[in-house]
Amino acid sequence: MTARRWKSKAGTRAGASCALLLLAACSGRQSALDPAGEDAETLALMFTVMVTAAAILWLCLNGLFFYVTRVSPRRMSRKLANGLVIGGGILMPLVLIGALLAWGLSILPDHDQPGDGLVIRVQGEQWWWRVAYETPEGDVISANEIRMPVGERVSFVLDSHRVIHSFWIPSLGGKMDMFPGRQTNLSLRADEAGIYRGQCAEFCGASHAWMAFEVEAMEPDAFDAWLAAEAAPAGPPDGGAEAIGRQIFAREGCGGCHEIRGTEFQGQVGPDLTHVGSRHSLGAGRLGARLEDFSTWIAHTDDLKPGVEMPPFDHLPQEELTALAAYLKGLQ
Ligand code: CUA
Repeated sequence: MTARRWKSKAGTRAGASCALLLLAACSGRQSALDPAGEDAETLALMFTVMVTAAAILWLCLNGLFFYVTRVSPRRMSRKLANGLVIGGGILMPLVLIGALLAWGLSILPDHDQPGDGLVIRVQGEQWWWRVAYETPEGDVISANEIRMPVGERVSFVLDSHRVIHSFWIPSLGGKMDMFPGRQTNLSLRADEAGIYRGQCAEFCGASHAWMAFEVEAMEPDAFDAWLAAEAAPAGPPDGGAEAIGRQIFAREGCGGCHEIRGTEFQGQVGPDLTHVGSRHSLGAGRLGARLEDFSTWIAHTDDLKPGVEMPPFDHLPQEELTALAAYLKGLQ
């Protein structure tokens, strides 16, 4: 094979791989182009219309350029040339882009619109999410996971502890920045039950890319049952390994940073762990939530999430890590 043919084949393969990668980004639980809610649908429509309009404009301009340079290259009168510059170069883009802008603004989701009642406050931490569900009986505190009822508009009230973060659930809507000392609002509605992935969308330090969370959109009845269970204090350890894990949790001072409601552990620095065993992920989307993920996280926090405030507990023997994992996984 000649060098040129080989290069052209390699180029074709690279192009095909790029196209496949781009297409793969169009679906999935963290794609703005695979909407599962009203607001994300509007944004996906806006994206499609804008890209299509831009593509048509690009083709027309290049067609015109090709025509005057290759098909019919000839001198044109100054009047025609001026007309083309003013009409095609100024008026047409003004009208087209102006129309697209007006249309875009008219359908842009209103992030301040009132919800159907449920208010969820989320605070950005480094690098995790403090979550509070407002209920008549008081706040239900959780972390690193959001659950919401399908078909109901939920009001998110956002802020941050130290630096700017950005709250983004691509499948459900646009992003909203979270500022220290200033409150921002976002209104979202999930129309399809499922588990989606949220991600911090503003660079916030070393582990910005590891600042994610799971969002579960549930049927309203299931959500009400879940919220009632989430509001309840933690149950006692069930079985020997869990009881030993609880003792190690106390001995290592974990309760200085973490709260487990219904126990003497009342720390407020790190995520609330009252029902950590029922979450879908650990370390703000860093790991899954299998038993072994708990011990891996506890022993290797700084490897998994550079700069994290929680120290690694890699000095603990494996059987103690396993007992700790059993206690935490048991917090359903
Ligand atoms: Cu938080 Cu990036």
